[in-house]
Amino acid sequence: MTKLRTLLIAGFALAGSIAYAEVEATDPDVIARQGLMKEMGSAAKAMGDMASGKTAFDTAAAATAKAALVDHAGQIAAKFEKNPADPGSEAKPEIWSSWDDFLKDAKGLESAATALDTTSAETLGAGMGAVGGACKACHTTYRM
Ligand code: HEC
Repeated sequence: MTKLRTLLIAGFALAGSIAYAEVEATDPDVIARQGLMKEMGSAAKAMGDMASGKTAFDTAAAATAKAALVDHAGQIAAKFEKNPADPGSEAKPEIWSSWDDFLKDAKGLESAATALDTTSAETLGAGMGAVGGACKACHTTYRM
C-alpha cells in the first residue's frame, strides 16, 4: 500500500470516529439547552468578530448581541434544571451534583456579559476576554 493511501484511510477512519461521537440529541429539554448554547455562541461570535475587526463595528448590532448574551446567560439555570438521559447530551452529571457551583459559573457569564461596553470595537474587545473565560470555565468542568 502506498503511503498516500495509508494516510487517506487513516483520515477517513478518524472522520468516521468523529461523526460517531456526535450523536444528535433527541430529548426536547436537551435540544432546547443546546439551542440556548448555540445562540450564545452566535452572539459571542458576532461580538468577537466586531472586536477583532473581522466584521465592521456596528453599535446597534453590538448592543443587540450583548442583550441576547445577558438574557441567555440568565436562562441557563432554567434550561438545565432537568437531567433527562440522552446520549446526544454533552452535559456532565456533576452539573446536578454540584448545582450551586454550576449556577455560579452561569452567574459568572451573566456578569461578564453585563459588563461588556458596546461603545466601540476597542471597549467591546476589552470585555470579551472575560466572556470567553466564563464560557471556558464552565465547559472545562461541566461539559464532556
Ligand atoms: C454554566 C455553564 C456554561 C456556561 C457559562 C457556558 N456553557 Fe456552553 N455548554 C455548557 C454545557 C453543560 C454544554 C453541553 C450541553 C448538552 O449537550 O446537554 C454546553 C454546550 C455548548 C455548545 C454546544 C451546543 C450543541 O449544539 O450541542 C456551545 C456552542 C456552547 N456551549 C457555547 C457556549 C458559549 C459561546 C458560552 C459563553 C458565551 C457558553 N457556552 C457558556 C455549559 C456552559
